[in-house]
Amino acid sequence: MNKNNAIESYNKKIKRVVFNEEEIKEKIKEVGAQLSADYDGNPILVVGILKGSYVFMSDLCRAITVPCEVDFMRAKSYFNDTVSSGTVTITMDLEHDISKYHVIVAEDIIDTGRTLKQIVQILKDRNPLSLKVVTLLDKPSRRLVDFKADYSLFTIPDFFVIGYGLDCAEYYRNLSYIAEYNLDA
Ligand code: IMP
Ligand code: MG
Repeated sequence: MNKNNAIESYNKKIKRVVFNEEEIKEKIKEVGAQLSADYDGNPILVVGILKGSYVFMSDLCRAITVPCEVDFMRAKSYFNDTVSSGTVTITMDLEHDISKYHVIVAEDIIDTGRTLKQIVQILKDRNPLSLKVVTLLDKPSRRLVDFKADYSLFTIPDFFVIGYGLDCAEYYRNLSYIAEYNLDA
């Protein structure tokens, strides 16, 4: 494939913009204001789940107007289609001792719910002062385990999205908007 064909094929897979930069910024501003009001005066640690949440984290923490700290963790999930209780392994852990913080977990998207359900359990076992989950995107129709985010910015039906941190085979994370991925292109 020559260079032009590769770029054309890359672009073709971006089917349509689902949420543009302005819409995302607006929602994040709202949730940032809400979190700032809800947690004012408390020690807050915003925990980003890598890699998908890195763009969201950068905007979210700047929309929080009260003092807060940030940390990151990375997890790998091992599930198969028939067993919904697979395992999640932490491949990069937090630096903070979370027992001293009100933890806000920031995730890119909740799909089956399996990954975040286990991450939340792992974090709760460390006895944070409190723990809540904020997700950029939620696909409730895909849930395989019972899991609900405390703050959800956008709810979408069952289609695959890319951009603003979300990838397909590691590409498209750097799009400034959220797009539907074209599975047929
Ligand atoms: P689950 O909730 O355990 O099924 O896994 C959620 C993870 O799957 C997310 O953190 C994403 O990394 C990935 N994922 C699920 N749906 C999408 C999507 O539409 N686009 C990109 N990644 C997705
Ligand atoms: Mg992810």
